[in-house]
Amino acid sequence: MDRSKRTPVIAGNWKMNKSRTGTKLLIRELAPLVSNARCNVAVCVPFTDLDAAMDAARGSNIIVGAQNCHWADNGAFTGEVSASMLTETGISLCVVGHSERRQYFGETDETVNKRARAVIAAGLTAIVCVGETLEEREAGKLNEVIERQMNVGLKDVTAADCAKLVIAYEPVWAIGTGKTATPDQAQEVHALIRATLAKLVGAETAETVRIQYGGSMKPGNAAELLAKKDIDGGLIGGAALKAADFAGIIAAAAQA
Ligand code: PGA
Repeated sequence: MDRSKRTPVIAGNWKMNKSRTGTKLLIRELAPLVSNARCNVAVCVPFTDLDAAMDAARGSNIIVGAQNCHWADNGAFTGEVSASMLTETGISLCVVGHSERRQYFGETDETVNKRARAVIAAGLTAIVCVGETLEEREAGKLNEVIERQMNVGLKDVTAADCAKLVIAYEPVWAIGTGKTATPDQAQEVHALIRATLAKLVGAETAETVRIQYGGSMKPGNAAELLAKKDIDGGLIGGAALKAADFAGIIAAAAQA
């Protein structure tokens, strides 16, 4: 498939940042800067900011998403939020398995799988994150880690489900560190992700799935990353909190 058939998706991962007021201000500042974007534009905000973000984004091309979701529809899971609760707010996207959730909140490939399937079953798009730590890379375990995260994390995800699937490759050593994977390093892993996905759901479907890069992406390095043939967008942390930087990355996607 021609890669131009995959619309790039640039998503901000705001993490635990921004108040409700700050959310509205940033989205209102961003909206005119990205109104002519030639890619999908999304912001993934804290649960408590979802409705404020939806309000501020109304009438714009900005998609609002969440950052996590439980696999059960309801029940005794204190502190969690279900996919149906998210759909009720009107959002259409949810990040699953971010490395910070794996690192600090006991997320495993198995729980990533349960969450991803619940998100997709609820009709939301899941951005499923994978990526190796520096130790894993230095120990020569890059391929093994990525293949395991893909095979377990996407177990029982069907070819039909892939219409609601985005994968984010985020090398843990590049997140919030200012160290970015080189375009060649990133492309190598994106190609591995697509090949692994092809074994799970077929090559034709794998060609349709967008694979984002995440980890210190900024306006200055976005264009050369996004120019690589298997890099179909970005999941942006720090640079998504500044309208001009986020808009700069979105402008770079238009050149890719
Ligand atoms: P960063 O974060 O852009 O600040 O490195 C990316 C992410 O964690 O999704």
